[in-house]
Amino acid sequence: MELYVIEIMEDGMKFVKLNFEYSDDVTVINQEQFDVHMRLYEGYINKMNEIDALLKDNTGVKEANATYSEFRGIKRGETYALNGVILHELYFENIGSTNNTPSTMITQMLSRDYGSFDNWKNQFVATAKASRGWAILCYDPRSDSFRNDSLDTHDDGYMAMSIPLLVLDMYEHAYFLQYADNKVEYINRFMDNIDWQVVGERMSMLQ
Ligand SMILES: [Fe+2]
Repeated sequence: MELYVIEIMEDGMKFVKLNFEYSDDVTVINQEQFDVHMRLYEGYINKMNEIDALLKDNTGVKEANATYSEFRGIKRGETYALNGVILHELYFENIGSTNNTPSTMITQMLSRDYGSFDNWKNQFVATAKASRGWAILCYDPRSDSFRNDSLDTHDDGYMAMSIPLLVLDMYEHAYFLQYADNKVEYINRFMDNIDWQVVGERMSMLQ
């Protein structure tokens, strides 16, 4: 698992774009939709490097103000862009498998909290339908339980301390080029193209 790469440069750290490759195993989106999406992801990488450069220079620190200020704009952009980087990397990593069978460990863990795997799945799909940004299966270590998190933007709705295990991009940019307004079809094809091995590796790291 290679995610969230930074390079240490002479003048500080720098975010680096990961090269997710399109393949025939990616059935949830076509190449054109994938390429457009990858350019958006690269945009968040570039913005994080711009934001970090501004923070390094203490840009706007003296005039920081909660009504309006340059520093407020930087801080709003920081969580938006950084979650944009992280969530896109998790999303692209957990799609693209033709082996769409969750392991016994996964089904047992989700059945414990949701009654059955199918009930978890129904709630995850409903979470996706209800979300304008992201649907995320999270683990909450404080309560040792799983939750389906609904985000309207990259940084609106995220549960503190929760660990993302399965990430679905529900921004319109993720599917509209290919599916237009048929987001249910996009969700269904995502559910059939989850790389459960990746999800299982993320779950294994919890133990
Ligand atoms: Fe996206």
